[in-house]
Amino acid sequence: MELREIEEIVKSKLSEKRYKHSLAVMQRCVELAKIYDVDEPKAAMVGLAHDVAKEMDKETCTQILKENNVELDKIELENFALWHAKVGAIICKNVFGFSQDMVQAVENHTLGKRKMDLLSKILFVADATGLDRNWDDLEYARKLSEVSLDDTIIYIIDINIKDNIAKKRQIHPESIMLRNELLSEKNLL
Ligand SMILES: [Fe+2]
Ligand SMILES: [Fe+2]
Repeated sequence: MELREIEEIVKSKLSEKRYKHSLAVMQRCVELAKIYDVDEPKAAMVGLAHDVAKEMDKETCTQILKENNVELDKIELENFALWHAKVGAIICKNVFGFSQDMVQAVENHTLGKRKMDLLSKILFVADATGLDRNWDDLEYARKLSEVSLDDTIIYIIDINIKDNIAKKRQIHPESIMLRNELLSEKNLL
């Protein structure tokens, strides 16, 4: 599908605020794709589409997951906010016709995943550092992202973990394993 068509569908599925977030993430993805020499049209599309399922109700999500034989793990099942990554990935594959690496990027955008490729890393970082975000160290994280994606991912995961602790929410082990992997690679350098 062309970017314009995807834009129309994303717009129709999201509130004004989240649509603006999607545009901000798209813009950030393109900036990062330039720096890290990643395919810009692909980066733009995953940025635009990543939250397409964010405002879908639980029933619709359950049906889409079931129809596509996609299973959620226990922590995902218990935290509805996580579902949109896998449901969004299915929509990106079936409706938008995304390639496998783009589908993976959408699937990985909330928790991250070990051995993520550059496109996935860019979306993960762009999601947290778009200009629509409003957190204290945004400027720092944006600057860091232009120097090291991996350091920025660690930084974002640290913030997410602290936030989950403060809110007494579960912490998904995949994020922790990704953090460990990145720290371990850093130590090898
Ligand atoms: Fe999301
Ligand atoms: Fe997002």
